[in-house]
Amino acid sequence: MGVRLWFCMCLFALCVPLVSSLSSKVLYSANNAIMEFDLDTRTVTKLLEPGSNRVFAMDYDYKHRFIYFPRYDTNDIVRFAYPSSNRTLQTVVQTDPFPSGIAVDSTNEHIYWVVPAGTNTLSRCNLDGSNLTLLTTLSVPYVVRLDVTNRWMYIVKAYIGVMKLRFDIAEQQMLVNITTSAIIHCMDIDTDESRVYWFEGNGELISAKDDGSDIKTIISTNTGGNNFGLRVSGSYLYYAGNKQLLMVNKTPVSTPTVLYNDTSRIESIFVFNQSGM
Ligand SMILES: *[C@@H]1O[C@H](CO)[C@@H](O)[C@H](O)[C@H]1NC(C)=O
Ligand SMILES: *[C@@H]1O[C@H](CO)[C@@H](O)[C@H](O)[C@H]1NC(C)=O
Ligand SMILES: *[C@@H]1O[C@H](CO)[C@@H](O)[C@H](O)[C@H]1NC(C)=O
Ligand SMILES: *[C@@H]1O[C@H](CO)[C@@H](O)[C@H](O)[C@H]1NC(C)=O
Ligand SMILES: *[C@@H]1O[C@H](CO)[C@@H](O)[C@H](O)[C@H]1NC(C)=O
Repeated sequence: MGVRLWFCMCLFALCVPLVSSLSSKVLYSANNAIMEFDLDTRTVTKLLEPGSNRVFAMDYDYKHRFIYFPRYDTNDIVRFAYPSSNRTLQTVVQTDPFPSGIAVDSTNEHIYWVVPAGTNTLSRCNLDGSNLTLLTTLSVPYVVRLDVTNRWMYIVKAYIGVMKLRFDIAEQQMLVNITTSAIIHCMDIDTDESRVYWFEGNGELISAKDDGSDIKTIISTNTGGNNFGLRVSGSYLYYAGNKQLLMVNKTPVSTPTVLYNDTSRIESIFVFNQSGM
């Protein structure tokens, strides 16, 4: 009896961490909801209502385990514990009107965000919202991603192109220039392979080396103007094509897989991959 009980407890202790450490989820925002898609079970759960119809980016603090996102309609950045059953939203910092992009630097305990209308700013504060610092102004900065190791920030200027700039703003470089009609709403970086990915307004998913060379089309879609989320994880790209959540191999030219059909346009995604942290 004693031995059997010990065996069961041991099995329980081994199995639970193994299962949860391998689970991968895609979080997305659509129609005043933050949703969680489980890549193993292919099921969707509504996590919370963000209190803003517009959430154009999410990012994660891997150290303290919080999802951060800007609320376009209410001019602030909020966070919630994840994974956790406590989904209380906490306001981190007030922003200028219409914040769109966010990136978390867990290593240095900072968040960065961009405001693509009005003030056109790139700002930073500590993870708790303290020490708000205006870093610079840029033309229509819409997306921000960070390469913390190599100290580059990658920024989408919505109607202009993709640029990178140093954390201290001293050095800037345009990686690609686009035509005004080809507005970009999403971009991600792949630090493993030193590449950058983005969707152009015509629905093409493009990849380039992180110096702007070797431009390749990964796929051409018919969802031009409605590609609002893109994330690299492992060998895949996860993205939003209007109301669909999809994945495609990073290597051109592959066939995308539809993961989920939502009833509203998906406006940001985040891939939570515990084995890829
Ligand atoms: C739930 O989360 C909120 C915000 O992160 C925190 O202030 C609160 O203490 C948490 N509640 C519990 C019961 O852990
Ligand atoms: C606040 O930000 C300034 C400017 O970037 C920096 O020099 C300073 O160390 C920061 N202070 C704290 C307490 O984070
Ligand atoms: C993009 O345009 C800027 C400003 O006109 C120019 O300096 C830069 O060389 C261009 N970059 C590329 C990659 O075409
Ligand atoms: C999504 O909808 C398309 C039709 O628009 C259908 O072919 C596909 O099977 C659906 N996929 C999922 C995962 O529901
Ligand atoms: C998670 O990350 C690991 C390691 O980078 C990778 O092999 C795996 O494919 C990723 N999983 C997903 C679902 O992206």
